[in-house]
Amino acid sequence: MSLLDDEKLWRSSVVANCAMNRERGLASYRRELGLDLEVPPGTRWVDLCCGSGKALAEAAREDVTIIGVDLVDHHVPARPGLSFVVAPVDEWEPDVPVDLVTCVHGLHYVGDKLGLLVRAASWLAPGGRLVANFDVASVRRADGAPLGRTLTKALREAGFSYDNRNRRIGWTGEGRPGLPFTYLGADDQAGPNYTGQPAVHSLYDS
Ligand SMILES: C[S@@+](CC[C@H](N)C(=O)[O-])C[C@H]1O[C@@H](n2cnc3c(N)ncnc32)[C@H](O)[C@@H]1O
Repeated sequence: MSLLDDEKLWRSSVVANCAMNRERGLASYRRELGLDLEVPPGTRWVDLCCGSGKALAEAAREDVTIIGVDLVDHHVPARPGLSFVVAPVDEWEPDVPVDLVTCVHGLHYVGDKLGLLVRAASWLAPGGRLVANFDVASVRRADGAPLGRTLTKALREAGFSYDNRNRRIGWTGEGRPGLPFTYLGADDQAGPNYTGQPAVHSLYDS
């Protein structure tokens, strides 16, 4: 198996294609994340792999700060309380701690998924929360075999919650979780995942 580095992965037709759903609205985000997504005044919310940002536009108001980050420069217009950053989530980080980090069906296309989860957890302000769709089956050993329970055990020991049925990962609180895996590269030929769309496997040494 030949593994892709980030630069090659970002150019892959699996990561940038017009078949993926980039247009979810707020009601869909609520269902996918299992959150009410009420944003009290002053809330700072970062949405990784935000797609069109439709959900964010529905939540935006002058008294909140919402930032959507995506590789693709194709968003709904920015509005008070909402801005967009065109960047790989693998390289971007917020300037100040945030209250909420979400990633709706974006991790499926990221290379170093575990590295991103660790970094995103470390951005949270006290009491903050990270929630993302995450398929543990997409995280593999160097030989391509799933890390499976080794991964879910390590995630829970690090303080992440993992909802196997809904394939959702969460983190609450401060600090930077530690995970005992070294990223090797990505496989964009993994085929469809549970969503039915072609996704990216991420390979790690443990
Ligand atoms: C299935 S879409 C989901 C979009 C949005 N969250 C929604 O639910 O409507 C996945 C998005 O991830 C973005 N993406 C994939 N890899 C990325 C990366 N490394 N950095 C930033 N965005 C990425 C794609 O451009 C695409 O917009």
